[in-house]
Amino acid sequence: MIKLLGLVSVALIALAGCVAVPDEPEPDVVEVVPPPPPEPEIVEPEPPGFDLSLYSIDDPNSLWVVVNKLRPLTPIDFAPADLVAPNVPAAFDPLMRKEASDALEQMYAEASEAGVPFRIQSSYRSYTTQQRVKANSVSRLGQEASDQRSARAGYSEHQTGLAVDLTTPSGRCTLDACFANTPEGEWLAANAWRFGFILRYLEGRSDIHGYVFEPWHFRYVGPELAEEIHLQGNPTLEELFGLGPAPTYVDAPTGGAPSPSDPAPDPPTDQAPLPGRDDAGEPDFPDDPD
Ligand code: DAL
Ligand code: ZN
Repeated sequence: MIKLLGLVSVALIALAGCVAVPDEPEPDVVEVVPPPPPEPEIVEPEPPGFDLSLYSIDDPNSLWVVVNKLRPLTPIDFAPADLVAPNVPAAFDPLMRKEASDALEQMYAEASEAGVPFRIQSSYRSYTTQQRVKANSVSRLGQEASDQRSARAGYSEHQTGLAVDLTTPSGRCTLDACFANTPEGEWLAANAWRFGFILRYLEGRSDIHGYVFEPWHFRYVGPELAEEIHLQGNPTLEELFGLGPAPTYVDAPTGGAPSPSDPAPDPPTDQAPLPGRDDAGEPDFPDDPD
């Protein structure tokens, strides 16, 4: 009997093992999703700033040379080596540095297409020509007034071969503030930067650049710098390069005559004088070349 009971027990136990026990509810499988990697921070590269140290402002051969009443050319009798005659109508035989001359020809072509062909009044002036121009200006205007319009020899942008005075074909408003209101003057003021020229002696900035408003005086600095100046709202070269203002000369006026320390050489680039003309091919000052 005991044996029987044992067998039954064993059977029951075995049976119990076979009875399906309802499954525990499967725990929800929580898929652990790792957080997305942080978005890489997109750092917009700073647009490269305009490099104002790219070219010298001291070297007279540099397109960026800054010449003013406190920054004479060094050497004082500097003459550029690559002067050519721009193919643009001119009052006198004009000369400019090659790159400036090419740019002036392009500007003239576009101005002509726009119906406002201009004329060159004065371009490169040698040290000795500037001496004569200045002496004449002083004798007509007196030293103080002359110094507002005409640079001393060695201090003129015209001596770099990069500056040009432009006027109307008829000559109206030549070297006069009214040139700003002529169609030619307006077109040039709006467009010259595209060809690498800037208006150097802006209105209302005489205390910085040192001269009266000269809407006719354009200075070639190359298209990159001219565009930068245009984008910056036309600062003067003094402001752009962080130079101080240059309203007056440091020393006593000399009237354009060479000081003992300023030799008056005869640069080889001077043109032969023409009858009744000075050595830059300009007449004997019926107008005051500025
Ligand atoms: N009129 C400009 C300042 C010059 O003489 O160079
Ligand atoms: Zn000028």
